[in-house]
Amino acid sequence: MNFLIINGPNLNLLGIREKSIYGEISFETYFEQLQVLYSKIKLEYYQSNIEGELINEIHRVGFSYDGIVLNAGAYTHTSLALADAISAVNTPVVEVHISNVHKRELVRHSTMIGKACLGTISGFGMDSYRLGIEGLLNYCDKR
Ligand code: DQA
Repeated sequence: MNFLIINGPNLNLLGIREKSIYGEISFETYFEQLQVLYSKIKLEYYQSNIEGELINEIHRVGFSYDGIVLNAGAYTHTSLALADAISAVNTPVVEVHISNVHKRELVRHSTMIGKACLGTISGFGMDSYRLGIEGLLNYCDKR
């Protein structure tokens, strides 16, 4: 089983950025915990602030990996190109958000990429990523 977590813009600053919303822990630290928890899965992590690089990464893994957990950050709400990339590949993608986007500004309530994804998890803090992996594991089991 080969899963990739992709983080979009500004998520390299987790643990530093708006701590009251996104928490105190860096993604690198959290990712180490995830790797221990899912030692039987090949779990990788990629982050970019650049839309085209996120698209390239989806293309790179999207025909061979078993699942992608994607936090597209603000591109969630704006990027038709990312939505098209997700639709173009075979690998199932779960959309995740650390914060509950529906409790926030109106502009964050809509998702461009949601329609192309297997499902969405939002509002569970960093645990949203683990729940995303669980969703993919369930999906892969039933296939
Ligand atoms: C986010 C929510 C987005 O609205 C925001 O732009 C982010 C992070 C989240 O994980 O809660 O950068 O995706």
